[in-house]
Amino acid sequence: MNKSEKFWDRTAGNYDKTEERFEYIHNRSRDNAKEHLKETDVVLDYGCGTGTTACEIAGHVKEVQAIDISSRMVAIAKGKAADAKKANVNFAQGDIFDERYENESLDVILAFNMLHTVPDPEKVVQRTLELLKPGGAFISVTPCLGGKMTLLVRLQILLMRVLLAAGVIPIPIRRLRTADLDRLVAVKGFQAVRTEEIYKGASSYFVVARKG
Ligand SMILES: C[S@@+](CC[C@H](N)C(=O)[O-])C[C@H]1O[C@@H](n2cnc3c(N)ncnc32)[C@H](O)[C@@H]1O
Repeated sequence: MNKSEKFWDRTAGNYDKTEERFEYIHNRSRDNAKEHLKETDVVLDYGCGTGTTACEIAGHVKEVQAIDISSRMVAIAKGKAADAKKANVNFAQGDIFDERYENESLDVILAFNMLHTVPDPEKVVQRTLELLKPGGAFISVTPCLGGKMTLLVRLQILLMRVLLAAGVIPIPIRRLRTADLDRLVAVKGFQAVRTEEIYKGASSYFVVARKG
């Protein structure tokens, strides 16, 4: 088990105890995403966490394949889908780089609150380009910890930097700015069709990029 998997396994049990501000960001991200989904879509939810978004969009699409590096997140997500009787959601432990995925097989790829934590976001974007069908959409929401934010959030980031330096948080947490996200999807083959700062106080940035 690698460091990242261990870390996310440790956080899984408490993940759903979100503060109100995160609930707002979650709801807004989901509602924005729904505007770009169709009943016929096969969706990959990359870094699905405890599966809340996957379950909430399931009724609006044909199928959701939801993956997460953490087996504990996936176990909680499976329980949630069973309780909510969501038969078209499939949760599995895995990464977007797994060989099981075929090029041009997906209509939509979601990456919610996770691009700032992966070792190489550029590689993730390239991979999404390969896996999306022409016309498919990459939909992300990303905390931009390098942007303007409230004093409370700045203090939380300071604490996080101490924990990162001490090795308590053993994963890369990038302090991205909205311009970094704009650059990330400004690659040949993608066109950004929507961007929105959905919560300025914590600088959460929503992006939809369509494959040409
Ligand atoms: C901050 S949580 C976000 C969860 C969910 N998408 C949400 O918006 O609530 C980040 C998630 O990404 C997962 N993750 C991190 N790196 C990953 C990777 N390389 N492959 C798959 N999942 C990953 C973590 O296990 C964690 O569940």
